[in-house]
Amino acid sequence: MSAPAAALPPFRTEDVDVRDPYPLYRRYREADPVHGSGRAWTLFRHADVAHVLTSRAYGRGTPTARLPEDCPHLRRTTANWMVFMDPPRHTRVRSLVARSFTPRMVEGLRPRIRRLAAGLVAALAEEETADLVAGFCAPFPILVISELLGMPAEDRPWFRERAVGLQQATSSRVARSPGAFAAAEAAARDLDAYFRAELDRRRSSKETPADADPATTDLIAEMLRAEEDEPLGDDTLVGTCIHLLTAGHETTTNLVGKGLLALLANPGQLALLRARPELAPGAVEELVRYDSPVQMISRWAREDDEVGGRKIPGGSHVTLVLGSANRDPAYVTAPDRLDIRRDARRHAGFGMGAHYCLGAPLARVEAEEAFTELLRSLPWLTVAEGPDAVRYADDLVFHGPERLLVRPGG
Ligand code: HEM
Repeated sequence: MSAPAAALPPFRTEDVDVRDPYPLYRRYREADPVHGSGRAWTLFRHADVAHVLTSRAYGRGTPTARLPEDCPHLRRTTANWMVFMDPPRHTRVRSLVARSFTPRMVEGLRPRIRRLAAGLVAALAEEETADLVAGFCAPFPILVISELLGMPAEDRPWFRERAVGLQQATSSRVARSPGAFAAAEAAARDLDAYFRAELDRRRSSKETPADADPATTDLIAEMLRAEEDEPLGDDTLVGTCIHLLTAGHETTTNLVGKGLLALLANPGQLALLRARPELAPGAVEELVRYDSPVQMISRWAREDDEVGGRKIPGGSHVTLVLGSANRDPAYVTAPDRLDIRRDARRHAGFGMGAHYCLGAPLARVEAEEAFTELLRSLPWLTVAEGPDAVRYADDLVFHGPERLLVRPGG
């Protein structure tokens, strides 16, 4: 077994500069890409990340063990999130949800997504200086997921508050912020009650799943229909609704916020996309690669394995730095350059293997519509001056600005 090329201090997320994590990643990727010892490892290269995500030697394991005993709702809901499941349960739950959450259904939502984006942008256009996160990036995905789940418009602000509370339980800063678990538990309790009542209402209402109109159907109706052949149980259905709400919220918020920052920092690419909106699909893929909304995920080694010449013992916790893998020059040329015309599709920004992001088709449509609408309707967009105009959340699982002030520019 070869030893690391140079002694670097143990990699700690606290040491990463959230405004620009890439120089630090690069040091580890070049000097000690399979970093760690004992049963804690961090991987920085694209090929190694791909190996772990597609190998049967690694599993997910639920986070329930690290959640406090006095958070029963949080423990129950996360135990029913497919992202934390292993086969055979993962395969069963994912295939049922995937049968309902099809790319065709997502494409059907596109006109409604476009209208939602246009509505938010129209309100922004009236402001002198606007916080793009508060005014667009954060509310937009919640509006879309509410459409997807068929939730009434008046419930959306309530929904959003709970989504934010719950997200704290899966962020990398949870251990550091007191009260985060209490907020997440309260959100999990409220959302659990909401979706249980919604399932009861749907089942007892006249509009049975079989009657749903294909033009207006939603994911809950589709899952209830799919479940008629193969019941999953209400804990799993309710858990899935809550999971979709959180999985698709902060991620898309950050893709739009960081994507816009990257475009504004690269005026040539911004001008190109503005002039040729048909490049939006490739631009979205490149932006997920260039500054990945999810910077790291993790796995447990079920058995001994070898990665990059180093032995990973069974039982190890392995952190996969997607943000570094996507800047690996062994995978993509000139990785630190934003190039919306490159073929970035093999990036790891949506994960890989069995847990590849189920919402990726929806995220792509949302981001395409968001960038197109923002660039078309706000041609003046410029980041405001001042040290506080862009403030990043102190988080690397969900990575992006929590404040992004923009103003009319020249
Ligand atoms: C899984 C990223 C948007 C639903 C994942 C994973 C990543 C990811 C990296 C893999 C996690 C792992 O393997 O541990 C993203 C990014 C998004 C995004 C960057 C936006 C830019 C969405 C949306 C939804 C969604 C909009 C749904 C509304 C899911 C689900 C899984 C998942 C259900 C779990 C799949 C499974 O375990 O089989 N996502 N996601 N995501 N994502 Fe996304």
